[in-house]
Amino acid sequence: MARLQLEDLQLARGGQTVLEHLDGRFMDGAITALIGANGAGKSTLIQAMMGMLRPVAGKVHCEVPKERRAWLPQQLALDLTFPMSVEELIMTGSWPSHGAFTGYCAAHYRRGREIMARLGISHLAHRPLGELSGGQRQRALLGRTLMQEAELLLLDEPFANVDVETVDVLMNVLREMADNGATLIVVLHDMEQLSRLADDVLILSGGHGRWASPESLLERYAGQPPKAPRLPLTFPDTFHAGTA
Ligand SMILES: Nc1ncnc2c1ncn2[C@@H]1O[C@H](COP(=O)(O)OP(=O)(O)OP(=O)(O)O)[C@@H](O)[C@H]1O
Ligand SMILES: [Mg+2]
Repeated sequence: MARLQLEDLQLARGGQTVLEHLDGRFMDGAITALIGANGAGKSTLIQAMMGMLRPVAGKVHCEVPKERRAWLPQQLALDLTFPMSVEELIMTGSWPSHGAFTGYCAAHYRRGREIMARLGISHLAHRPLGELSGGQRQRALLGRTLMQEAELLLLDEPFANVDVETVDVLMNVLREMADNGATLIVVLHDMEQLSRLADDVLILSGGHGRWASPESLLERYAGQPPKAPRLPLTFPDTFHAGTA
């Protein structure tokens, strides 16, 4: 089953076409890595998939109910100076299904505490968001999507500026969500992270998308020195899914 599908999608920014003729299915229970150079259109596609950017042509078909869709924006786009604690942020995850003004019951608080423990941030429950490190913030934001019981989760470079231990915690939680049937799409720039996490890969390059298996990509870049795990910023136009 694929509850998220793209059909001949065309997206533009400021009157300029960013992506066109984009097709594909994102399987339930799978993690798809979305890769490509800076400016390739990864964030633009994510915004279209969240319904925040209207396509110029084509369609995003999404059967996941709105209240079960979650988005972790690219970190530089986030303003977390809002006066709110970690626990308060996580609890807001219940708003889409429960409403913002009905208050929380004991079960909500219990679940919030379980989520903070799972993410290793119980000790930060009352810390204001503005006083968190990058990794702590990412844990708290992922906690909010767990509270929401997200079935579609779009993460825009979730591991940027995040320490190794936090990457492990986040990856384990993401895999668990996928194992429970959620559809995950993760913008990545790092081949090692891709090899650990991705079940499928969508490459954006030159205004087009190409699907590939993680194995074919890893094979293709197997000759790279281990100390340079970053993905090259451009992908040759001759590259097609399944070819190494
Ligand atoms: N609000 C905007 N108005 C006009 N153009 C935009 C806007 N946002 C993005 N663009 C342009 O759209 C193109 C795609 O940008 P996008 O942010 O989707 O790239 P990206 O793949 O996410 O890059 P990065 O890896 O740097 O995050 C770029 O050429 C960018 O300059
Ligand atoms: Mg981006």
